[in-house]
Parts: sequence; structure tokens; C-alpha cells
Amino acid sequence: MHPKKEIAWEAVQLVDEAKRQVANEAAMMVNDGQILGLGTGSTSHYFIQKLGNRIMEEELDIMGIPTSYQSFFLARDCKIPITTLDEHLPDLAVDGADEVDPQLNLIKGGGAAHTLEKIVDSAADKFLVIVDESKKVEKLGDFPVPLEVIPSAYRPVTEQVKAAGGVPSLRMAQMKDGPVITDNNNFVVDVQFKEIPNPKELEIELNSIPGVVENGVFAGIADQVLIATSNGVESIKKP
Ligand code: A5P
Repeated sequence: MHPKKEIAWEAVQLVDEAKRQVANEAAMMVNDGQILGLGTGSTSHYFIQKLGNRIMEEELDIMGIPTSYQSFFLARDCKIPITTLDEHLPDLAVDGADEVDPQLNLIKGGGAAHTLEKIVDSAADKFLVIVDESKKVEKLGDFPVPLEVIPSAYRPVTEQVKAAGGVPSLRMAQMKDGPVITDNNNFVVDVQFKEIPNPKELEIELNSIPGVVENGVFAGIADQVLIATSNGVESIKKP
């Protein structure tokens, strides 16, 4: 089952409005001349749209580095000039998250894009996370940790994950028979842990399993988080 949180339909529009609000605020923080990492997901979607509007209306000189096919196609449709990590490093990366803890550790990968997201977000001078309030948690771990896994390594990876105390589940596709295949042609294994006492240790441990390309724990990477709350947008900076 896809790990995105199920929410009541009545709440969907409120959450959607919160995502738009926080994404718009982030887009207003972008300066002319910057190279931007473009995150993936529904919140980043609003960010990319607003950025495209600003570039057009204010004639800004900005280039984007997408973190997925989704953000690539959207950025192209929004007429955002595209570049690559080969040519430029991002001044700022803006991306969503599935969970954010008080130390600004994250779980990402609900959209299976966490490998490229981590590469681009880590390469940026500043990594800004944009979320609605539902993503704020005291401790990471209700959301399963996504692992991008080389298909031929699926079985041994799941055995090692179980030995590490996790419950692995192969993410299945919708509108396609069989598993989700990532932008890099790999599987996604979602791993539920009872608790995550030390996100950095878990991030390192999971990436040391042969066949794991990248996992969705982003420990200590975020510089600032904008959270859309009912009282407006809250900002938390890395201490
Ligand atoms: C993509 O794989 C994810 O890391 C997303 O960035 C994350 O799931 C947040 O997505 P939403 O903004 O859609 O909640």
C-alpha cells in the first residue's frame, strides 16, 4: 500500500490551500540570479508554478534543477529554464517532506523521488523544506522509510531490513501491474520501524545494505522549514 497518509476528503481542500500558501511564501524568498533545486510532490508543485509566474512577470534570471521527471515536466511547462548539477550547483533547494521532526530531520520519498531529491537538496547552499502542519511530528517513524532498491537485490535487502528491526513492504504501482519503478528503474521498499531513536544512525545503516541505492531519511540536511499552520506560516531554522 502506498504510504501517503489517508486524510478525510473534507480536509483535503484545507491541506491543499496550506500547501499552496507555504509554497507561495517560499517562492517569494527566491532572489534573481539564483540556481534552484526543484523538489517533487504536491507542495513542490505549487512552488514550481509560483516560481514560473514570478520568472515571467518579473523577468527573473533563474534556472532550475529538477529532482524527478515530475518536476522536470512541470518546470518545462512553467517555462523555467532547466540546468543540471554538472553545470551548476543550486544556491537554494526547495522541497516537500513526509515527516519533519523538531531537529529538522525528515522522512521523504512518498513519491519515490528521494534519491535525486537527496542529491540535489544536499548539493544546495541552502535547503528549504515546505510542508503543511500534518507533516510535523515529535519523532520520525509513523511514516515508513522508503528505500530505493536495485531490483535484483530485493530479497537480500528485505532480509537485512528485517534483521535491523524493520518491516519491509514492496511498494506496488497504481494503474500498472506490479511494483513501482522509480525514475532510476529501481524498486521502492517501504520499511516500518517501531521507533527511530537516532535518524542519522538509521540513515547510515540503511545505506550500508548492499543493493540500497538511497533511503528516505534526511538527517541534518535541512536548513530551514516553513510550516503552514492555521495561524499562518511558521519558520524553523536549523540551530
Ligand atoms: C517525493 O518522493 C517526496 O519526497 C515528496 O517530496 C514528499 O512526499 C512530499 O510530498 P507532498 O508535498 O506531496 O506531501
